[in-house]
Amino acid sequence: MLTRLAGLVAVLGILAAAIVIPQQDPATIALGKKVFEGKAGGAICFTCHGMNAKGTPGLGPDLTDDSWLHGDGSIAFVDSIVRNGVARPKQSAAPMPPKGGGNLDDEQVKAVVAYVQSLRKPRA
Ligand code: HEC
Repeated sequence: MLTRLAGLVAVLGILAAAIVIPQQDPATIALGKKVFEGKAGGAICFTCHGMNAKGTPGLGPDLTDDSWLHGDGSIAFVDSIVRNGVARPKQSAAPMPPKGGGNLDDEQVKAVVAYVQSLRKPRA
């Protein structure tokens, strides 16, 4: 009985890991870095936010700190910014184009969101 229970717990653990990992999966984050740096999908995030994502005054804010101009820094928030852009910037002179000016597919959007998240959270 106990071993069965342990087996069940192990299976549940694997399932939970499978659900959680896509946003933190190193391959996803690596793809997101490529997207951010303009090497996949045609977006040019780095031109406004800087190659290290620490921002460029007047062009795009720092994405590595914990202060957000337009939301709470959650995955859903960053996802929505990446898809829709920012039509009315608060500090920058020009708007952010939807999908960073690129033609990102769903996988590339999710990857760049995971990459932005990875810049702030300590990696496991
Ligand atoms: C043409 C310049 C430009 C490009 C390209 C660009 N951004 Fe932005 N981004 C901005 C501006 C401007 C803002 C809003 C800043 C403000 O309100 O002053 C912004 C805001 C954001 C925010 C929200 C920041 C906050 O503090 O709330 C995120 C996240 C973000 N961008 C991610 C990205 C990602 C990822 C890409 C590439 C897919 C990208 N951006 C491409 C200019 C750009």
